[in-house]
Amino acid sequence: MAASTLEDRSAPTGPRPALLVGIAGLAGLGGMIFGYDQGSVGDSQSGFTAAFGLDSFEVGVVTGMVALLAMGGSLAASPLSEAHGRRAANVLAAALSVVGGVGMALAPNVGVLITARALIGFSVGLIAAAVPQYISEMAPARARGRMVATYQLAITVGIFVSGLIGIVELADTADGWRVILGVIAVPALVFGVAMLVMPNTPRWLVAKGRVDEAREILRRTEGEPECDATLEGIVEETKDLEDSKWGDLVRPRLRPALTVGLVLAASQQLTLINGIIYYGTSIFRDLGFDTAREAEVASLVGIYLVNMLATFIALPLVDRFGRRPLLLLGTGGICISFVGAVVASIEIADRKAAGVPVGSAGWMLVASVSFFITCFAASWGPVVWVMISEIFPTRERSKGIGLCTSVNWFFAWLVALVTPAVIGWHPAVYFAVGLALMIGTFVWVLFRVPETKGRPLEEIQAIWADRAKT
Ligand code: BGC
Repeated sequence: MAASTLEDRSAPTGPRPALLVGIAGLAGLGGMIFGYDQGSVGDSQSGFTAAFGLDSFEVGVVTGMVALLAMGGSLAASPLSEAHGRRAANVLAAALSVVGGVGMALAPNVGVLITARALIGFSVGLIAAAVPQYISEMAPARARGRMVATYQLAITVGIFVSGLIGIVELADTADGWRVILGVIAVPALVFGVAMLVMPNTPRWLVAKGRVDEAREILRRTEGEPECDATLEGIVEETKDLEDSKWGDLVRPRLRPALTVGLVLAASQQLTLINGIIYYGTSIFRDLGFDTAREAEVASLVGIYLVNMLATFIALPLVDRFGRRPLLLLGTGGICISFVGAVVASIEIADRKAAGVPVGSAGWMLVASVSFFITCFAASWGPVVWVMISEIFPTRERSKGIGLCTSVNWFFAWLVALVTPAVIGWHPAVYFAVGLALMIGTFVWVLFRVPETKGRPLEEIQAIWADRAKT
């Protein structure tokens, strides 16, 4: 869609808040689709398990299918948005989510359900890479950080909304799971239509030689005369972008950044966050809550609401205290929460074996899980996306983000696949594995993750240049 769909050229030359609000709204819709899917699987799990008589491995396949295909979606985002524009990648993502949502709602058998979840997965993978890229290329520098943060916050809002829908009795009705999963088609439709009337990003327009259109967009987001300096910078950078290749990511000069990005992306999932998000309700159901409804309310408040609220707390701290302190504090807190969860799980198992109520051990597990979520949302949730988007040089940034996002999804898939089996074996083992992983992660962050707070991007590149020499 050409820039002419925006406001009139003769309007004043200051930045247009309406356009920025529109972009932030898109970030919200994209993030919500991502988040809603993460949360809705947990709410619908018992429904589709009963409907198709699935065993725990099949539940893992249906649950993890999204993450698996999302890997492909994140990788595909880079060539797609380079060839057809960031906007086109997002419109395709929206269309796939609409089809996938309808498919899940109407699935007559588990094959169709898995196929529909695969479509949703590819779409969510595209969104995870293309939405932040769209926002960061549209937003003026002064608002970029806040806008990327809006996206992570929107993910948590999406997860919370899925939890709310999950407790309105739907999860307990025979076909309620169809509504819970299928409703994702509604925000996806709105997202797709909204994306169609938004402009392409100035960076992509310049790469395609459409410099006048790019200047018009910048005039509206940044005002005059600032837009001219930004345009010059984009023209300069875009010359180099044409030469970027996947293989460049493994060149010696980029290896240190790539290593940190990949380990950060993997570690975010190895906190086991999505084991808790996907299976939290099931874990709570086993705790001896009087009704399934009580377990759902406990996970809505103790997991989804805490996740959203703790993200609010984290946002200003990322720039004030820095990335490293948040990661170290968050990892330390997660270790403490896992110790609590291991102790509580052993006690619960003993009490169940003795045929007595789980009592306070159940509440100890709920408190440990809530504390875990608080620590995750205040650290690994936002910090990983912030750092992945700032550690690569401009020329390789879109490929770097795509690869790291894809690896993040791979580990999300792995965790989703093994979680039901390991928890079924013994929850204490699950949390003990998490504890061991997080102790290793703490040491790695301490010695290998540099502080990037407040540093210009060129200075961040100097850190990697120094490391490459050693
Ligand atoms: C992670 C998701 C996770 C969500 C929880 C995101 O940053 O990438 O996998 O479900 O946070 O809030």
